[in-house]
Amino acid sequence: MKKTLLILSAIICIAACADKPSHETEMNKFVDNLMSQMTLEEKIGQLNLLSMWFDVTGPRMSKDVEQKVKDGLVGGVFNFWTPNAVRKLQDMILTQTRLKIPLLVGYDVIHGHRTIYPIPLGLASTWDTEMIERIASAVADEASADGLHWTFSPMVDLARDPRWGRVSEGAGEDPYLGAEIAKAMVRGYEQGDLSKQNTIMSCVKHFALYGAAEGGRDYNTIDMSRLRMYNEYLPPYEAAVKAGASSVMTSFNEIDGLPATGNQWLLTDLLRRQWGFGGFVVTDWTAIYEMEDHGVGDKAKVTELSINAGVDMDMVSEYMIEELPALVKAGRVKEATVDAACRRILEAKYRLGLFADPYRGISEERAKTQIKSPEKLALSKEAALKSIVLLKNEGQTLPLDASKKIAFIGPLVKNQRTLLGNWAAAGDWKQIMTLWDALENKYAGAKFLYAQGCHLVEDKYIRRMTDQQNGNVIDDRPAQQLIDEAVRTAGQADMVVAVLGEAYDMSGEAASRSNINLLDNQKNLLKALKKTGKPIALVLINGRPLTLQWEHDNIDAILETWLPGMRGGEAIVDILFGDANPSGKITMTFPRNVGQIPIYYNHKSTGRPFSNDSKFTTKYIDMENTPLYPFGYGLSYTQFTYSGVQLSDSTLTANGSITASVTLTNSGNRAGEEIVQLYVRDLVGSITRPVKELKGFQRVELKPGESKQITFAITPELLKFYNSDLQWIAEPGEFLVFVGGDSNTDNKAKFTLR
Ligand code: BGC
Repeated sequence: MKKTLLILSAIICIAACADKPSHETEMNKFVDNLMSQMTLEEKIGQLNLLSMWFDVTGPRMSKDVEQKVKDGLVGGVFNFWTPNAVRKLQDMILTQTRLKIPLLVGYDVIHGHRTIYPIPLGLASTWDTEMIERIASAVADEASADGLHWTFSPMVDLARDPRWGRVSEGAGEDPYLGAEIAKAMVRGYEQGDLSKQNTIMSCVKHFALYGAAEGGRDYNTIDMSRLRMYNEYLPPYEAAVKAGASSVMTSFNEIDGLPATGNQWLLTDLLRRQWGFGGFVVTDWTAIYEMEDHGVGDKAKVTELSINAGVDMDMVSEYMIEELPALVKAGRVKEATVDAACRRILEAKYRLGLFADPYRGISEERAKTQIKSPEKLALSKEAALKSIVLLKNEGQTLPLDASKKIAFIGPLVKNQRTLLGNWAAAGDWKQIMTLWDALENKYAGAKFLYAQGCHLVEDKYIRRMTDQQNGNVIDDRPAQQLIDEAVRTAGQADMVVAVLGEAYDMSGEAASRSNINLLDNQKNLLKALKKTGKPIALVLINGRPLTLQWEHDNIDAILETWLPGMRGGEAIVDILFGDANPSGKITMTFPRNVGQIPIYYNHKSTGRPFSNDSKFTTKYIDMENTPLYPFGYGLSYTQFTYSGVQLSDSTLTANGSITASVTLTNSGNRAGEEIVQLYVRDLVGSITRPVKELKGFQRVELKPGESKQITFAITPELLKFYNSDLQWIAEPGEFLVFVGGDSNTDNKAKFTLR
C-alpha cells in the first residue's frame, strides 16, 4: 500500500514538475512567434498604458484612446471596468487590429472593487494577515468578474510621517509587519496561478521609498542611506516580489539624485538582479514625463533613461510611443531593450490566459453573483470590526448602554461618503449605511438624539483643496449656531458620542497636511461639549494618525475607526454598544504634536539617551519624547495580563532555535482578542541597531478568565540585518526579547547568540 502511494505520488510529482517548464516553453514559443510578426512600433505600442474615462487619478489625461488602440499603439488601459465595456474593447482589438493582442485592463483596486473594505491602514491595524489574504482573494474574484486583470496594489511604502496623506494606503511604519501584509496581499490577488479566472495581477508600489517624502509632502524628494533602505524601507517590497508579484510600479520620488523611474540601480541591479524579479515594471502616472521637471533631461533623454533603467510600461506619459522609434534608430536605446520590455508585457498577458481567452474572467453571471455577495459584505464587516482601535476608555465609558439617552453629535454621524474612504474604486457610497442608519436599524425606538454640531470642513483653504460635493454636508448656518444647537442637544442627554475626523479626501494621494490636529471647527465643538460636563466618547473617522493630546487629556473615551469601508457604520455601532470587543492595534505611532515627527518605535539609541535627570540628553524642552500612543497599542473592553517571558534556553546556536513564551490571561469579564507582539533588541552590533524590532505577532482569542501559553520560535534568521557591507547576517552576542501588548512593553528576557 505504502509502495503504491509512493509510486503514485512520484508520478504526480513528475507530471506537476514537467508541467511547469513545458508551460514556460509553450509561452516562450508563443511569444517568440508573435514578436517575430511585430514591427518596432507595435512592440513599442505594448509598452503604452493609457487611462480611460471612468476615473481620473492624475493631472494629465490620455486622449483618443480608442483610435490609438486600433492603431496598435496601446498595450493596456486602466480606470475602466464592467463586463460590457471590457468585452467591447477586446472585441475592437479582435476585429480591428492587425495582431489582435488583447489589452491588459487595470485599476486602482486598493481596498476593494465594489465591496469596499477598510482602508489599508485600517486593515493593517487588524494584524490579521490570514484575513487580509482572504480579502485580497475576494477582491480579485470581484474585480476579475468585472473585467479587470490587474490592480495597482499592494502599496507597501513604509511610512513614518502621518502628515503624508498616503499613509492611509499602506500598512504603517514597520518593515516586518509591512512585509507580512505585502505577502498576504500578493498571495490573495494572484493565488500563485494567474490562469485562474478569479485572480488578478498585483502591482507592488511605489518602488521605492515613496513613504519617506521629506516633510510628509506628497511627491517630494528623498535622500536615504543604503543601510536605512536595506534594513528598514526595502523589506516589504522585497517580500512582495518574492511572494510572486507580477508587476512593480515605480515611485515619483528620486533615489540617490535620480528619479526612481530612471534609476537603473533600483530597477535593474536591485529589483531584477538581486531579487530575481521576473515580472514587468510600470511607471506611476506620467512619471517619465515628470522627469523633465525633476531636471534630468528633455523628452527624449528621460524616455531613454527610463527604458534603459528597466521600465517596461509607460503610464500615461506616451513618451515611449512618441520617442522610442527615433531613440532606437539613433542607437540610444537598443532594439533588444524594447524587445525585452515587450516580451515581459506579452508574458504577463499569456500568464493571465488572455491569448487563449481575451474575455478572461468576464461574465455577467459571475458579476451578478460575485459582486457584493453576502460573503464579501460579511468579510467587509469582519475587517471593519477588527480594524477599530480603542485608544482610551476612562472609567469604562464604553461600551454604551442603549437604555440611556445618548446624543450623537458631529458631521460624520450621517455622512456616507467618508466611511468608504479614499481610493474607493467602484464602490458606491450612496448605497451604504451611515452610523446613524445603523443605529436606527439596530435600536429601533431607542432615544438617540442628534445634532450636526459643525461642518465637516470649515477651513476655506482645505475646502478648496478637497472635494466638497461627495456627501460633505455644507449649509449656510454659522459655526456658533451649530455649536449652540449641539450643546442644547447634549444637555438633554446622559452622555455624548462625538463623531469627528477627516473628510474622505483629506488623506490619500495629494492630501498631505502640515497640521494633523482635529480641524479647528471640530475642536471648538468638542470644547463646547466638554463644558456641558457630560461624559463624552469621541469616535474618529479619518485616514491617518492625528495629534490628539488635548482629546486624550479631556475626553473620556476615544475610538479610532479609520475609514472603515461600506459596513463601517454598522461595525462602529457594534463596537460602541459592546456587541463586538475592539481588538485593533495601531501600526503607526501617534505623536503628541506635529513637531515630534518623525517619531517611530524602532529608532536607534543616541549616545545620550533621554533622561529626566540631565539636560544634555536627547529631548525637546517643550514636549516629552514619548508618543501619545505607541506602535502596536490598542485597548480592549477586557484586560489582558502577561506573565514574564520564559526562554527555552538562554543560548541560541547558529543553526538552532529557541522559544520565547508567555502566559496570556484574559483577566477581565468579556471575551476578547489580543494581538501579542514579539520584539527583539540586538544589544551590541557592528553597526548601531534599533532599540526594538518587531519579529512576530499572534492574534489570540480568550474567554473571560481563560489563559493560554503563547510561544514564538526564535532562530538566527530572525536576528539578521544588513551590515555596513550590505551582507545579510546575524552577529553573535546578547539579545533582549520582549513579548507584550505594544511596542512599549518592558516584559523581557535575555539570550545569547553563539
Ligand atoms: C498614484 C498611483 C496610482 C496611479 C494610477 C498615481 O497618481 O500614485 O498609486 O496607482 O496614479 O491611478
